[in-house]
Amino acid sequence: MSQRSQWKSSTGFILASAGSAIGLGALWKFPYMAGMFGGGAFLLMFLIFTILVGLPLLIMEFAVGQLGRTYTTEIFGQLTGHKWLNSIAWIGNLAVFVLFSFYSVIGGWIIVYLGFVLGQLFHIVPTHLHDLQFQDIISQPLYVVTGQAVFIALTCGIVMRGVQQGLEKASKLMMPLLLIFLIIIVVKTLSLDGAMEGVRFLFQPRISEINMESMLFALGQSFFALSLGTTGMMTYASYASKDMPIKTSAVTILVMNIAIAILAGLAIFPALETFGYQAEEGPGLLFIILPLVFEKMQFGTIFYAIFLVLFLFAALTSSISLLELNVSNFTRNDNRKRPTMALVISVIVFIVGVPATLSFGPLSHIQFGAGSIFDNMDFVFSNILLPVGALASTLAIGYAMEKVRLKAGFGNDPLKLFTLWYIFIRYLLPVVILLVFILQLV
Ligand code: TRP
Repeated sequence: MSQRSQWKSSTGFILASAGSAIGLGALWKFPYMAGMFGGGAFLLMFLIFTILVGLPLLIMEFAVGQLGRTYTTEIFGQLTGHKWLNSIAWIGNLAVFVLFSFYSVIGGWIIVYLGFVLGQLFHIVPTHLHDLQFQDIISQPLYVVTGQAVFIALTCGIVMRGVQQGLEKASKLMMPLLLIFLIIIVVKTLSLDGAMEGVRFLFQPRISEINMESMLFALGQSFFALSLGTTGMMTYASYASKDMPIKTSAVTILVMNIAIAILAGLAIFPALETFGYQAEEGPGLLFIILPLVFEKMQFGTIFYAIFLVLFLFAALTSSISLLELNVSNFTRNDNRKRPTMALVISVIVFIVGVPATLSFGPLSHIQFGAGSIFDNMDFVFSNILLPVGALASTLAIGYAMEKVRLKAGFGNDPLKLFTLWYIFIRYLLPVVILLVFILQLV
């Protein structure tokens, strides 16, 4: 058992967990979802769900991980005394496997964009930033599949190196840089014509925009952005020593995640009017708008290249947590198996992920169920595996685990919040998750 990995410091733990949380969810998905579902109204619901549902669940995953300190397919049985409950963790494993397969599609897009921008910078391709045509780029099989392969290979490389050398070191440098860069972009977009219009769109909640659909998406987004429901955060906390402060870590991550999402929104919405785009643009929003913003800056191409590197990095610190969950459960605390397992799983992820990438190009005619191949993978992850996994784990921890044990996991409690949290875990969260699960299926 001495082979098991561990974080070096609590900063390392916080940054790695924040790295897992902050990724495509906050930077790419949040702005385009907010754009589609009414801006301020979406932000408001996202905040409410993140605080009321996300935070208690994040604390639960942290507490359980830190108490159990083993891989998730052993943790549930160990903490509850019921071995069969370990099967819950396999739902999470399958979920992140599916997620990694289609997450790598977007990761691949970032790499292709980066390739183009570096090409421009070194005058290999004679184009301008405004020549980057999103639809054209994502439908070119050769580019995007190569991008996806590189993205998965980078993820695999970091995970192979293990927790301290790979995950912890990588997160420490890039997260602060990303924050600084976002602020630079926001300063620029706020100076554009009609910027206030965009600011108002993001911050003024128009209550009429709130409906069942936008609520479901906002809740889904708060889960996605905090990496919840798949035992991913549990795995990270299982590498934390007993004295790491999980509650303050959870709050810190929550705040950082919200801040980055809002900055991403501010980087985009104020620029829409200047460039004549609509907030409802959809998944291409960030990829379409930012090159135009950067083109208006001095040294824009260089800045855009740096931004893409940081964006890529944010996606990588999330994708490594996706791969890590599976690696952790297949190596079962034996670090010697880590490189082989990481490699094998990555190859399978690539094979499963390629059709998702091609569904924006040559395979776009294949439409069934929720839409394209990509849409269906997203549906299976977001609408089925994630809620089912989250429901099962809250029920297992809330009902099958001894209260005193969970209380010990909650740690010191000067504000006497344990009882409130326990009520959330036992009653509120299962009911909300079940309700949403049923509503979105009908
Ligand atoms: N939170 C990550 C992002 O926003 C992605 C993610 C969602 C995730 N669910 C997860 C990561 C579960 C790890 C585990 O990009």
